Amino acid sequence: MKLRHALLATAVIGTLGLAACKRDAEPTAPAATPAAQQGETADQFVARVNEEVRKLSTELNSAQWLSNTYINSDSELVAAKANERWLAQLNAWIEQSKRYDGQQLKPETARALKLLKLWTAMPAPRDPKKLEELTQLVTRMEGMYGAGSYCTGEGSSRSCRDIGQLSEVLAKSRDYDAQLDAWQGWHTVSVPMRKDYVRFAELVNEGAKEMGFADAGEMWRSGYDMSPAELASESDRLWGQVKPLYEQLHCYARTRLDAQYGKDKGEVAGGLLPAHLMGNLWQQDWSNLWDILQPYKAAGSLDVNAALERMAAADLARELAKPAAADGSAAERSFMAQRAAQLATAKAMTERAQDFYVSLGMPKLPESYWQKSQFIKPLERDVVCHASAWDMNMAGDVRTKMCIVPSEEELTTIYHELGHIYYDLAYNKQPPIFQNGAHDGFHEAIGDTIVLAMTPQYLASVGLVDAPEQSQEALINAQMRMALAKVAFLPFGLMIDRWRWGVFDGSIQPDGYNKAWWALKAKYQGVAPATARGEDFFDPGAKYHVPGNTPYTRYFLSHILQFQFYKALCDASGHKGPLYECSFYGNKEAGQRYWAMLSKGNSQPWQQTMKELTGGEKMDASAVLEYFAPLQDWLKQQNAGQQCGWQAPAAGA
Ligand code: ASP
Ligand code: SER
Ligand code: ZN
Repeated sequence: MKLRHALLATAVIGTLGLAACKRDAEPTAPAATPAAQQGETADQFVARVNEEVRKLSTELNSAQWLSNTYINSDSELVAAKANERWLAQLNAWIEQSKRYDGQQLKPETARALKLLKLWTAMPAPRDPKKLEELTQLVTRMEGMYGAGSYCTGEGSSRSCRDIGQLSEVLAKSRDYDAQLDAWQGWHTVSVPMRKDYVRFAELVNEGAKEMGFADAGEMWRSGYDMSPAELASESDRLWGQVKPLYEQLHCYARTRLDAQYGKDKGEVAGGLLPAHLMGNLWQQDWSNLWDILQPYKAAGSLDVNAALERMAAADLARELAKPAAADGSAAERSFMAQRAAQLATAKAMTERAQDFYVSLGMPKLPESYWQKSQFIKPLERDVVCHASAWDMNMAGDVRTKMCIVPSEEELTTIYHELGHIYYDLAYNKQPPIFQNGAHDGFHEAIGDTIVLAMTPQYLASVGLVDAPEQSQEALINAQMRMALAKVAFLPFGLMIDRWRWGVFDGSIQPDGYNKAWWALKAKYQGVAPATARGEDFFDPGAKYHVPGNTPYTRYFLSHILQFQFYKALCDASGHKGPLYECSFYGNKEAGQRYWAMLSKGNSQPWQQTMKELTGGEKMDASAVLEYFAPLQDWLKQQNAGQQCGWQAPAAGA
């Protein structure tokens, strides 16, 4: 995730008895703006907004960084205030920009004015009371998610598990009932968000309407240099391209789950995959089912996890061997050594990711990055662990915020986050309004493109796996490893916003939130809950981006785009041979082409930016299909004679 101001509304508070010490009667939401300068031309207006954005967003980012990495009522209060100020100011600018409606403007000026309206994913009502209510709601929902935990047992046997521990059960246990319990347990956390989400949708719709959009969903779909309707149909078209591949993977997974659990438990009526058996709370990434889905047991093991665990063990041994720097008991010294080792491992993993970007000719991360980032989960305070990348001041203070543990999934997430960071660094020379992805799917795709280049050969060259085996079996294993992350994700990437678009346009009503959610899960992903999920639950809220209000179509688009970018960079590097063999690690020509694209930011329509990199102007999934061609053939053979596909229960069932 890329943190863009006010995207994650951090906000707050009840009335904490502050009124008593308030010095004067400031309105809760500061009245928008310094008076717009009269007689300003459109160009002058944009220049002024760019300057003010720089200042105001830097202040907002600091407040939000604090509230994300040091959660308490004070940091939340400060962040909420900063957010209110920001959103009120944004509304004021949008209002002022109407003075230039209908005028003949330079293209970059017209673009800047248009982008201003699309800046936030949380369009706020002008009414200050409602703005305050909105930021409070979002904070409450995010807080519930962040602090979410599932407790069982009574008295001394009572125990609670957080999202990390529950995820671990789905990843590692193969006990049907234990997985069901963990899955259901996490889905208790979102139940109290339901009422808040209903109100939240009303408020952002009101904000969107005031800005001239039909609803908040239409506003989200408007950020793609095409009409909102075109974006919706583009996403359908892209899904149509990759759906046959997904269906083959789905069919294969079902056969294997049946073998593991028996047909009565390995699938749900209609041939759907049980939600709690896919190794992931949301069935968005099936990598954790490697033990069940690995095509060939012996061929080409790509055990990156084992290498990272060895690295962590070596770091720990080294720290423990150091002479004690301070007094304290043996237990205390050992604890400190463990902490130091965890930090060292996390930084070494981040250096590994940085090394790829540097090998392309990109700069090393600034010293301040290493000083100010959050690499591991701090002690004795709550933080938001969901990974994110931050551009604090548009001038080099970049940071990532993660709770890194030594696993392959975390390693690839670091590569992903650094993609955001290098995008930030490359476009920092643009005016602030253009400091963004060509569209949000581009931002999510930068680091993932590098992840595609993490071939077995690359992993071996940096010592993360042994010299890879060259065989058809090893190839299929390597493709399956990638497909469980990338192909399994596609329908999930689509369905989340199909749900939210429906909520915002009113076609999904509050009394049918959960029913619509599971209908979409069935339609796109072919997954279903093993037990009934009525309207007493609020299952959408169990996914971070719903309470955190981060649009999600970006991830679907990213999972198409990243293959296009990958292919273009492979071509630029002079790669010959099958696409899936390409790693452009170390290739300066590929790096230079990539950097040129990143430097454009959002200063021109994305179609132009894409053309400069790939030669084409459309998003297109043919590179996905080219990449996975060997696996798709293999899956077809495996599935021969099977009745593939599934029957989504009729709506209303
Ligand atoms: N970049 C990921 C996402 O956008 C972060 C993660 O996987 O934790 O949410
Ligand atoms: N990072 C996004 C998520 O966690 C998409 O992979 O859902
Ligand atoms: Zn991201």
